[in-house]
Amino acid sequence: MRILAIETSCDETGVAVVEDGRRIRANVVASQLVHQDTGGIVPEVAAREHLRAIDALTEQALRDAGRGLKEIDAVAATVGPGLIGCLLVGANYARGLALAAGLPFVGVNHLEGHVYANWLYETEDIPPEPKIPAVVLIVSGAHSDLVLMEGHRRFRPLGRTIDDAAGEAFDKVARLLGLGFPGGPLVERAAKDGDPNAFPLPRAVLADRYDFSFSGLKTAVLRRVRELEAKGPVPVADVAASFQKAITEILAEKTARAAAEHAVETVLLGGGVAANLALRAEIAKRIGHPLRVPPPRLCTDNGAMIGAAAFFVLRHRGTELSVAVRSDMKLA
Ligand code: KG4
Ligand code: ZN
Repeated sequence: MRILAIETSCDETGVAVVEDGRRIRANVVASQLVHQDTGGIVPEVAAREHLRAIDALTEQALRDAGRGLKEIDAVAATVGPGLIGCLLVGANYARGLALAAGLPFVGVNHLEGHVYANWLYETEDIPPEPKIPAVVLIVSGAHSDLVLMEGHRRFRPLGRTIDDAAGEAFDKVARLLGLGFPGGPLVERAAKDGDPNAFPLPRAVLADRYDFSFSGLKTAVLRRVRELEAKGPVPVADVAASFQKAITEILAEKTARAAAEHAVETVLLGGGVAANLALRAEIAKRIGHPLRVPPPRLCTDNGAMIGAAAFFVLRHRGTELSVAVRSDMKLA
């Protein structure tokens, strides 16, 4: 089963060819650099950029895979959650392609894509499939969800952010420190030279719940930076390291507790923030389970993860094969 998969839910245009939900044959991603000037994503601009990029990227993905459309079995695209104008570009393009080629169209939930990124590989030797049931932490620019994966495509929400998403917090702190956009990788790099214990920062506990809150932490960083600015140059590396320590500890504590309190085989991570090495290390330290994380370039948005999820949609068929795009789609 060879799937051509398209991802356009936010600011990355991704097109991939994936076999049997696991083997990546092509995976091209165009990141929209235009948003660096505005320090955040402008939805209309993002949609227009997808439209501009999608045709050439699709051709390139097929070329990389060494396949023509005739050798493709299904066309998949993200149908939610995400920015509605952006979702429409990818989903309509993929539907049109499927219709023209007489292939089935598969609508994929973006969050399921982040989960199934853990099934992908590009090497000759085949890594074992992640064992389920699993506790999954999905942390991206728009989501911070802790879920129990009871089986394929069977997800039970445990907790989520009650305010900002983790990636959003990274992006806001990066902007505050003048590091640029997207902030996560830049904060991580700056933190390498910093002292994580330089500035104690609050961690909202939300006792006995699996929910997260990051707005108090963000405000505390803001206040601390303003204080430091009044005294002289801000020690950017120390602030970045202290913030990164606080946020990774919050995420790791709840993830480890969820793993301890449920009968699971593994802990899986997904989403852009899962690319953060400090987060991976903090979680690995606290759990007694094997930890699976996609390689960094498969944590951030890409087409291959949609191709992986699409395979499992077809195998564990739901009713959503041709659903309309929905900006607020939940994990099933
Ligand atoms: O999954 P993703 O590509 O897009 C969404 O679905 O939102 O996640 C993007 C988010 C951004 O907020 C970005 O700053 C963050 O992931 N991110 C990171 C790292 N790489 C990307 N955050 C922390 N550390 C990183 N290395
Ligand atoms: Zn994402």
